[in-house]
Amino acid sequence: MFARPVISRMDSERAHSMAIRSLSGFGQSSIGLRTLDALYQSPELPTHVFGRLFRHPLGLAAGMDKGAAALSAWPALGFSWVEYGGITRFPQDGNPKPRMFRADAEQALVNSMGFNNPGASSVRDQLIQRRASGKWPNVPVAANIGRSKKVDNEQAPADYSATLEALWDHADMFVLNISSPNTPGLRDLHEESSLSSVLKACNSVKEMKGGGKTMLLKLSPDASDEDLLSSSHEALRNGIDGLVATNTTLKRPVPKNTKSRHAFAQNGGVSGRPLQERSLEVVSMLYESTGGKVPIVGVGGIDSTESAWNSLTSGASLMQIYSALVFKGPSVVSDIVRGLRARVRESGFSSIEEAVGYNNT
Ligand SMILES: Cc1cc2nc3c(=O)[nH]c(=O)nc-3n(C[C@H](O)[C@H](O)[C@H](O)COP(=O)(O)O)c2cc1C
Repeated sequence: MFARPVISRMDSERAHSMAIRSLSGFGQSSIGLRTLDALYQSPELPTHVFGRLFRHPLGLAAGMDKGAAALSAWPALGFSWVEYGGITRFPQDGNPKPRMFRADAEQALVNSMGFNNPGASSVRDQLIQRRASGKWPNVPVAANIGRSKKVDNEQAPADYSATLEALWDHADMFVLNISSPNTPGLRDLHEESSLSSVLKACNSVKEMKGGGKTMLLKLSPDASDEDLLSSSHEALRNGIDGLVATNTTLKRPVPKNTKSRHAFAQNGGVSGRPLQERSLEVVSMLYESTGGKVPIVGVGGIDSTESAWNSLTSGASLMQIYSALVFKGPSVVSDIVRGLRARVRESGFSSIEEAVGYNNT
C-alpha cells in the first residue's frame, strides 16, 4: 500500500491513486481495518480542542483523500482526525497531468492538482451511503472546501456556501480553503472585504442549519505577515473558530540534485520539509496575535517528534501531515505521537494542552 521502494519509482500520482484504492479496500472490511490497526495503532495523548475530544493531536491533512474514498481507513493508520477534500461545488478534473512531483533529497512534493474532485453532491451521496453501511470513522472528521475553478471570486460566496450546505451533515468541522496556489485568483480571497463576503454567506448556512459545527480558515504561507493578520482578524470577526497554517508555498528552495531541480521547475505548491520554517513562523505569529485564545492547526513540513513539538509549543493545538506520510510511510504517525508523549512527560507538563504555545508565553 505505502510500499515506498516500489512507489518511489512510479509516477507520483499513480502511486497515490493506488494507495488510496487499496486503503479504501481495507476500509471496507473489519478484518482489513483490524489488520491496519494492529500494524499502525498510535498511543493516546488526549486533548480537547473546539469542544471535541481528540485521541492525540495528529490528523491527516487535506488533499490526500480528495473524494473521501478511504475515509474509514485513516484512523486505523493511527490518525486521530481526518480532513477530506478539497471539495468544490462542481465536479472538476483538475489541471493536466503530470501534476505531482517528488524531490526526495528535500523530502518535498510539488503539486498542481487544482482541486480534482467529484463535486459536492456526489461526495455527499457517497458519504450518506458510507454512514448507512456503518463505516463512518469514530474520530472527528473535517471537510476541506475550495472554490470551483469555473466561477470567479465575485461568485465565491455562493460557491463556498453551496458546498458547505451540501456537506453540512457529513463533517464535524469545515475548513474554508482560500490558500491553494492551484486555482487562479483563489488567494485574493485573503483580502478583507472578499473574505468577509464568503464568510457571511457561510454563516447564513450555519444559521439555517442551527450551528454545532466548527468553522476553520486555511491560510497561505506566501501572504505577507500583515495580510495574514488582517485576514485572520476579519475571519474571527465573522465567527471563524480556528485557523489552519499553512497550505503549500510557491517559493522554491535551492535544489540539491537534478531530480529536485526538475521537480522544483514545475508549476504548483511545495509541501514537506522546505515549508517547515515558514509554517512554524505563521503558527507562532497567529498564536501571539490572538493571545492564544484561538485554536490553531499547524501543518507544513511536520515529519518528526521535533518538528511536531516545535509546532505545538509555538501555538498549534492540533497538527496535520501529508508529505511525511509519503516519504516515511504510516508508521510516522505513531512514531511522532509516541515522541510527543515522552516530550510532554520529560518537560513536566500534566497534559499536552499545557504545552501549546509554551515557547510563545
Ligand atoms: C498533492 C497535494 C494535494 C493537496 N490538496 C489540498 C487541498 O485540496 N486542500 C488543501 O487545503 N490543501 C491541500 N494540500 C495541502 C496540504 O493539506 C498541506 O497543507 C500541505 O501539504 C503542507 O503539509 P505537509 O508539509 O505535511 O505536506 C495538498 C497537498 C498536496 C501535496
